[in-house]
Amino acid sequence: MGAINFPANVGTKFDLASDKDKGELMKISGTVFQPDGKTPAANTLIYLYHTDIEGYYGRTADVHKHGRYRGWMLTNKDGRYAFVTIKPAPYPVQRFAAHIHMTVTTPTAREDWIDSILFEGDRLISAREREEAGRRGGFNPILNLKKGDGGCFMQRGI
Ligand SMILES: [Fe+2]
Repeated sequence: MGAINFPANVGTKFDLASDKDKGELMKISGTVFQPDGKTPAANTLIYLYHTDIEGYYGRTADVHKHGRYRGWMLTNKDGRYAFVTIKPAPYPVQRFAAHIHMTVTTPTAREDWIDSILFEGDRLISAREREEAGRRGGFNPILNLKKGDGGCFMQRGI
């Protein structure tokens, strides 16, 4: 997947985009917990990637297949992470909701997928995705965007 390529200077925050990018800038933050769902998981590597505003990942051979919007973070001592990016678009085929892929890797467990982030209000979110939201670990991956200073701010737990 993507964790294997993490940079040496990986931090607890990552800016995948800035106000120079086209699209709706947003900040997402959250907490990773241990399997008990209560104890924060420090030093956990998160890898994430998503499409651009037209629904594409890498379009040319010189761009990674996960596209330009990808990055890595380590959770801090409280299990917290945060990243800034633009809101992705659904794939051009318009069959799947817009999403952000995420994996987690801990000091003792290999990289694993977690639920993709989805965005409330997206007409492409399926009935099954709604039904399954929050079943794993009790955390709902369908996020409500809230307008704040300079962008959208969201909070999630994984
Ligand atoms: Fe995808």
